[in-house]
Amino acid sequence: MKKFLLGTNWKMNKTLDEAITYSKKLVRLVEAHSQYNYFIIPPYTHLTEVKKALGESKVMLGAQNMHWEDFGAYTGEISPKMLSDIGIDLIELGHSERRQYYNENDFDLNKKLKAGLKHNFTPLLCIGEYMVDKEYGITREVIKKQVKIGMFEVSKEEALKVWLAYEPVWAIGENGIPAEPSYVAVVHGYIREQLVELYGEEVGNKIPILYGGSVNAANCVELSNQENVDGLFIGRSAWDIQKFEEIINLLEISKY
Ligand code: PGA
Repeated sequence: MKKFLLGTNWKMNKTLDEAITYSKKLVRLVEAHSQYNYFIIPPYTHLTEVKKALGESKVMLGAQNMHWEDFGAYTGEISPKMLSDIGIDLIELGHSERRQYYNENDFDLNKKLKAGLKHNFTPLLCIGEYMVDKEYGITREVIKKQVKIGMFEVSKEEALKVWLAYEPVWAIGENGIPAEPSYVAVVHGYIREQLVELYGEEVGNKIPILYGGSVNAANCVELSNQENVDGLFIGRSAWDIQKFEEIINLLEISKY
């Protein structure tokens, strides 16, 4: 069985010193709890130093976004080639803050996802509906569109390298309402159906689907126990290494 995935996107947080201190502590934490696979996604400017701090540890290092072209006249952008030089493992794509504030759309995300695959990164594609979609009962349709366009022309073989994260927009951040675990199970079920429809049982069932959005010490165990939840993608509750450790301990104890 594949290891359960645990990771965090720092968003636009942490000084370089804080990033290095956190990463060194994470290495020790991970050694003590090796039954999970871990990833961290710092801001671009910290990637090189965080990579050094992680050393030989198995923690996967990711970036929060990238352009799809290797080079070009795209002021302010960072390319897959540049991230490949740093040696990242994972590329986070389509976080709801990117979609919401920087107009990222499914078509461009598909280009980014394919560029990520070309550079041997694990693309972590974030999907999720707005509250209004949920209220109008179109969550399934929204998810379907995001998955189908995001994974357009991605072969079965390539699809095996992709991870999806279901992050309902209304559940994310300070004003987020944590999603009910039973609701998460239903939506993860839709996503699984989509993947099986696109890639068949064998491949579709292997693609990890993570849940993110106000994951915390109070809900992590129940969320992790839902069918088709293959990992937790944690924001605020993992930015402090002690809080992250608390979540890891709770998950561990719950499996005894
Ligand atoms: P949160 O962030 O856990 O702080 O809600 C989740 C995310 O944005 O991925």
